[in-house]
Amino acid sequence: MSHPLVIANWKMNIPSGGISSWIQSEMVSTNDEVDFNKKSSYFKFMGIAPPISHLSELENLLNFGFLGSQDISRFNDGAKTGDISADMVIDKGCTFSILGHSERREFYNETNKDVSEKLRICLEKNILPVICIGESLEDYNAGKTLEVLDMQIKEIFTSLSTKKTVVIAYEPVWAIGSGKTPTPDDVNNIHQHIKDIVQSIAEIEAISFIYGGSVNCENAKSFFQQTNIDGALIGGASLNGKEFLDIYNDFLETF
Ligand code: PGA
Repeated sequence: MSHPLVIANWKMNIPSGGISSWIQSEMVSTNDEVDFNKKSSYFKFMGIAPPISHLSELENLLNFGFLGSQDISRFNDGAKTGDISADMVIDKGCTFSILGHSERREFYNETNKDVSEKLRICLEKNILPVICIGESLEDYNAGKTLEVLDMQIKEIFTSLSTKKTVVIAYEPVWAIGSGKTPTPDDVNNIHQHIKDIVQSIAEIEAISFIYGGSVNCENAKSFFQQTNIDGALIGGASLNGKEFLDIYNDFLETF
């Protein structure tokens, strides 16, 4: 069984207009169509990963969707200045965590080994891991996309055996925040490739494959229509509550 998911990754931003107006726009735009008594089922595929500092505010205001963190420490506790542990984000209501985002890799030198350790912590603590992989522009131009993905997958997943769900987010680095995307067809084929490689080196009972990189309300549907795309990880377009909800509705329609 897979776990379809559309995730808002706010990164180190707060939606312009603030969190309550972001939530308000979600409410207003859904008001006509959604029976709020059933909202938990309507929102069950929606994840929101705000900056850690705003988790409590969201937890108090938000009664829909899942909360997640954008990262966790690879350590459980102790003298690790600046880190936030898995237990700490669980305490703040998080049920999933993004791991190995390309910005963590680029600005904080995170390695596949770090991501692998964090993945195992998530599984141990019952946090749904959302693992980001993807090739750089240079690798893409050199035709090395699959080679790079294979290496990332091997270093992160080798010998993993779990009955828990894992989400893999394919995010080509060159597509993030650039307005450029691979074609939906290409993403579909790449997801199939990732699935094959992961299944050949690890035993994971349930894996979902989501796409991230310049998803917006214009192009979202074309990705969601693909058989191997189970959702999206959305940065820029998620900062606007109305746009994010439009994308989410497109997702539900094609699901
Ligand atoms: P973007 O970011 O939607 O702004 O391209 C996606 C991401 O970094 O997860």
